[in-house]
Amino acid sequence: MEKYISIKDLEDAALQTLPRAVRDYYKSGATEEYTLAENRRAFQRLRIRPKCLVGVTDCDISTTVFGEKVSMPVGISPTAMQRMAHPDGETANVKAAEAEGVIYILSTIATSSIEEVAEAAPKAMKWFQLYIYNDREVTRKLVLRAEQAGYKALVLTVDTPMIGIRRADVRNKFTLPAHLKLANFDGFLSTKIHNTGEGSGLNNYVESLFDKSLTWDEIKWLKSITKLPIVAKGVLRGDDAVKAVKAGCGGILVSNHGARQLDGVPSTIEALPEIVEAVKHYNVELFMDGGVTTGTDVYKALALGAKMVFVGRPALWGLTVGGQEGVQRMLSLFRNELEYTFQIAGTPTVADITKDMVRHESAYSRL
Ligand code: GLV
Repeated sequence: MEKYISIKDLEDAALQTLPRAVRDYYKSGATEEYTLAENRRAFQRLRIRPKCLVGVTDCDISTTVFGEKVSMPVGISPTAMQRMAHPDGETANVKAAEAEGVIYILSTIATSSIEEVAEAAPKAMKWFQLYIYNDREVTRKLVLRAEQAGYKALVLTVDTPMIGIRRADVRNKFTLPAHLKLANFDGFLSTKIHNTGEGSGLNNYVESLFDKSLTWDEIKWLKSITKLPIVAKGVLRGDDAVKAVKAGCGGILVSNHGARQLDGVPSTIEALPEIVEAVKHYNVELFMDGGVTTGTDVYKALALGAKMVFVGRPALWGLTVGGQEGVQRMLSLFRNELEYTFQIAGTPTVADITKDMVRHESAYSRL
């Protein structure tokens, strides 16, 4: 794994390895992919302002989330159908998270079940991502199983009344390869994505099964069936963040779904300050994902008010390249880059990373 010295190295290797339809599915953003590019570019518009000679001898990059310690402020975002990347899929990914002491979020539409993942990594801090199906009994069963299997939070995706248009998936008529199954539904709902119609099979699946009529009131129902904290994933506006908190969410994951839902929305690092401001008087933990590929990206997100960040595609690239070992390599690259950043920026702990540590490039634009 030593030959991979950046997330980009892992990405390049993974893109060369994956079968076309899988590669396209993982890497695509919505329509023109403007936001996909912006998710990364927007980080480049922020400058870190290091403090010199602050006498930092030791850095501690760990943090706490919902009262529990994690080894660094980087976790693994939910991504669907991970056995397309590697035969061990989600179980390898969660084992890497366990070994590295970071949070792993399992997708509802995973190719390993809630229980398999829990068994593979009993000590990992696991959260479960939730889609709400038309049939509430489906969702209720998933929630109860996640709770029983020791998952510590529910991550409710709020940006997906339908799946965004990803042109490559339409072209490829994307579907789940025949040897794999949507493992969480064994015995009570189809475990296949039937591709009978035109275009992407996943779009057809979501169109027929997900509930488009959801409102923030649904959080109340969720809270009536579970004690787990609920994180709203996919928020991009301050007023929605307030609605999420008022509805009872304990966390907000500022996300544009890897730029896969609606093109032209802000990058997540751009959206973050509005949300930080909107909920500053509430007791809620803020996270973000989208376009994070370096330790300095993570650092910038922390400076702008995220408690921690999550990465989705980087874990898929690591998984493709080397299963558990590849994901651990990805996480250790983030860890190493973050340690360097903390040290050289002169901020020994997460608490030292105040807003003044970054500035938008426009502050320097007189040159
Ligand atoms: C599923 O959530 C996807 O983005 O494909």
